[in-house]
Formats: sequence, structure tokens, C-alpha cells
Amino acid sequence: MQIITDIPPLEAHWGCAFVPTMGALHDGHRSLIRLAAAQGRPVLVSIFVNPAQFAAHEDLGSYPRTLERDLECAAGDGATAVFVPDVDVVYPQSEPLAAIPLPNVGSEPALEDAFRPHFFAGVCGVVARLFDLVRPSVAVFGEKDWQQLKVIEAMVRSEPPRWGDIQILSGATVREDDGLAMSSRNIYLDEEQRHRALALFRALSVSQGLSVVEAEALMQQELSKSLLEIDYAVVRDAETLGPVCDGPRRGLIAATLDGIRLIDNMPV
Ligand code: PAF
Repeated sequence: MQIITDIPPLEAHWGCAFVPTMGALHDGHRSLIRLAAAQGRPVLVSIFVNPAQFAAHEDLGSYPRTLERDLECAAGDGATAVFVPDVDVVYPQSEPLAAIPLPNVGSEPALEDAFRPHFFAGVCGVVARLFDLVRPSVAVFGEKDWQQLKVIEAMVRSEPPRWGDIQILSGATVREDDGLAMSSRNIYLDEEQRHRALALFRALSVSQGLSVVEAEALMQQELSKSLLEIDYAVVRDAETLGPVCDGPRRGLIAATLDGIRLIDNMPV
């Protein structure tokens, strides 16, 4: 497996199946790499902890960094190459990157966009830059970050000449045996917090098939019982993330547990 830190060697991988990550790879990421490998193309994984998507008070400094193990996992799951750029390769000072207009699904639903107002500008900026450098045929994102997935899909649709050839694939959320959605931030949880964090999975599970009002009330109840501070616990249209219509619905939760912010979602 090739390890790339600079831009010129990326050209040999144009047309690949691409899995952008921030490292600290867990089984969720690993399933995305395997999904990419199943596309019958060379697989390029990027590992870059993107400062632009963290607010000043967030965990950029302490975000888990496990490069050696990540490289082993990527190789084991079928990656052909891993791109591990420094910040100035992604954000060259000599060539400031143009801001990417945020699609409505990244600015209107009052979900992550409201609670992490810097987040989607940072994500779209880095994903646009990576897409332009890597020029993938396929790019794979996890459903765990459902709003992010919808934002990337809309971003790609918004500029067909630039990104129209990129097929966005999504990989289902991978869960621990008891239902906790895998996340790089789960390592912050001690045993007691890990147990309380299961409230997200329970809340989404008990909401299946209920009316929006009932589901949202039950989710709030379940999260509050485990003393989580709720940012949102809502049922929305799965595509627009606006109010539910006739189409598929998605339950979406973000809540903080002793300062550790967790998100999860499920069809409901
Ligand atoms: O989901 C993530 O890990 C990140 O937001 C991404 C897409 C790699 C951009 O930094």
C-alpha cells in the first residue's frame, strides 16, 4: 500500500474509489473501505484531521490520532493507497481556496447546522479540495453522519462540470453488539458513560412506526432518563431533513453526555 503525503502522486489514482476519513479508524470506517474495494477500482483512503470543521472550543487538539494502526487497517481492508497530507498541503497559503456555497440541507434544517455552525463550511471545503485533488469515480461516506451525507450529495449535484462524475455511495452505520453506533469519539466514554450512551440507540429504536409527535416525545424522554443534554431529537424527511412529507423518515439525535457530544440516526 502506497503512502502519499504530497499532491503529484495522486494523479496516478484519479478514478479511484475514495474514502475520506479523519483517521482513528474503527469498524465503521473499515466497512466503508471494504465497500469501496468492492467497486472493483483501486481504493484511496485519506486521513486528515480537518481543522476547519472544528470550532475553537471543540476537540481538535485531543481528537484521537492512531496513524500506525490506521495504516494497518486500511491495508487489511483493501486500500491501494493512503493520502496523509499536512495542513499546508490541503490549505496552501499561496492559494486560498474558494468557499463552497452551502446547500440548503446544510444550512436550513436547524440540526448540525445550528449546533455546529462552522461545521459544514469546513466539511464542504475539505471534501471539495480532496475531490479536486483525488478526482475519484466513487466516494464513500457513512450514514452515521446522515446530514453530512446529504450535504455532500447536494454539493456534488450543485456543480456538475466539477463533480458530476463522482458517484456518492453510503455505508450503513456499524454498531457495537448492544447497538451503540461506532464513532471515533466513543473512546472518550468511560464504562458508566458508555452505558448511558446507549440511550441514543434505545431512543431511535423505540420510535419506530410512531407519529412524529409521539416519537419525538419518547426520544426526549429516553435521553433525559440517562441525563443526556439534548441538542435535537427529531423525526424529519430523510432526504431534505425538513418536516416529514410522504417519503422516508429519519430519526436524528445529537446529545451531549458529560461534555462528550454523540450523534446517531435511523430510519423510523
Ligand atoms: O466524516 C468525517 O470523518 C469527516 O467529516 C470528513 C468527511 C472526512 C471530512 O473531514
